[in-house]
Amino acid sequence: MAKQEDAFKKVVSHAKEYGFIFPSSEIYDGLSAVYDYGQNGAELKNNIKQYWWKAMVQLNENIVGIDSAILMHPTTWKASGHVDAFNDPLIDNKDSKKRFRADVLIEDYCAKLEDKAQKEIDKAAKRFGDAFDKAQFEATNSRVIDYREKQKSILSRMAQSLDNNDLADVKALIEELEIADPDTGSKNWTEVRQFNLMFGTKLGASAEHAMDLYLRPETAQGIFVNFLNVQKTSRHKLPFGIAQIGKAFRNEIVARQFIFRMREFEQMEMQFFVPPGTELKFYEEWKQKRLNWHLALGLGEENYKFHDHEKLAHYANAAADIEFKFPFGFKELEGIHSRTDFDLNAHEQHSGRKLQYFDPERNENYVPYVVETSIGLDRLFLALMSNCLKDEVLEDGSERTVLSLPPALAPVKAAILPLMKKDGLGEYAEKIFDDLKYDFNLIYEDKDSIGKRYRRNDALGTPYCITVDHESLSDHTVTLRDRDTMKQERVAVSELRRIIDEKTNFRNLLTQLS
Ligand code: GAP
Repeated sequence: MAKQEDAFKKVVSHAKEYGFIFPSSEIYDGLSAVYDYGQNGAELKNNIKQYWWKAMVQLNENIVGIDSAILMHPTTWKASGHVDAFNDPLIDNKDSKKRFRADVLIEDYCAKLEDKAQKEIDKAAKRFGDAFDKAQFEATNSRVIDYREKQKSILSRMAQSLDNNDLADVKALIEELEIADPDTGSKNWTEVRQFNLMFGTKLGASAEHAMDLYLRPETAQGIFVNFLNVQKTSRHKLPFGIAQIGKAFRNEIVARQFIFRMREFEQMEMQFFVPPGTELKFYEEWKQKRLNWHLALGLGEENYKFHDHEKLAHYANAAADIEFKFPFGFKELEGIHSRTDFDLNAHEQHSGRKLQYFDPERNENYVPYVVETSIGLDRLFLALMSNCLKDEVLEDGSERTVLSLPPALAPVKAAILPLMKKDGLGEYAEKIFDDLKYDFNLIYEDKDSIGKRYRRNDALGTPYCITVDHESLSDHTVTLRDRDTMKQERVAVSELRRIIDEKTNFRNLLTQLS
């Protein structure tokens, strides 16, 4: 555990030291769970967005992208259910004065039971070696069965209590399980209360006539309310999708995991509108497509798993998370939800406007069903940073820190490094920079030893370093150093554009998706 915490701390400090992420308004001691993206963070974020947008909008003839407003008519949130039901159950510890999500305390307790089950399995795997039959062991070992049954019964009791809004029973469960404040060990809890996560704001100049608004807690509703506008103007037939990237805001109760749970964050969401009765087929398709999109990044298949929801949100008839192995364990990275016709129906009722589609094949009007894919941009950023940040010991015993980002996502594609500024090397390097800057985001650096400059660019994730030396002036070649292999080769300046493009083009990711 300590090792994982150290790894996570390293990610946080690396992100700050190399201009990826800063605490928001740091000179005023920051704002809890709000972060700013620095010069390299903004580039990485833009590249992630591009990868998502190209995969959704550019590769799919039947998906279009929009950019709807953050502020929406307040009835939107009544219709969507957010005013009444976008709550988290919170509980305070009377001694430490810390606030927790009651459901997360219980889920963490269950995760510890699962850890214990896993330990039994690992021990047995070691004991039996190649002869080990995991499935059989899980089905027959009494301790593993006990741990798993206990988890199941705790989670189903919690789900039932939350469904019935029986918050006294949620507290009773916490007390029965003797769950303590993880930091202080105190079991002195308040009652459990519901807390709405939406941020309120006001529209209008005078206090009397101001209208109460909310900052959107998800981008999806901007897509739903525009469904007919987009369908009619794009003239797409069902099935078709609307994609959007944008900010969302949630007044999270517990926001202690850096950019994993923020109060202001970005979502990349796609709503796929389908004929009623076909939604579960498309739901399965999108689950697989989204997993493939993640796998193309090369962060390791073993770091992803599906978590199919047993307790479904009021609007869904199927839902799953793609979980990623963050430094603090497997956690939700993306949600795929079959949202039925709940949202469009609710907007029809609250607005009094029809949100129906005439299906020429079925020769009828209906409210489409929706399959949604929703990923937190910041969470993917964290997944990339934590997975790609590595400390390596080199053959000569020296060490380096490298951020082995997928080259298409790297903030800087190549660093142009004159060995020295004088003797015309600086000017030659600037010429290369000026020639390549139309195609790639580059940096030019002429300070420090070349070794130090290589190390700094490794830590930034720059796929290539291009070193200009005296020979370059006469034979128009440079040394090209590869971030991952650290191999250096002599290449012609005229070849640089092709070589960098081959390595960093989005095509490398996108062609894996078909
Ligand atoms: N429209 C559906 C929706 O918003 P969600 O599961 O609440 O579903 C979707 O959110 C994704 O948004 C999550 O899988 C997660 O990646 C991201 N997300 C949610 N809350 C977040 C937060 N407070 N900070 C960062 N990302 C968050």
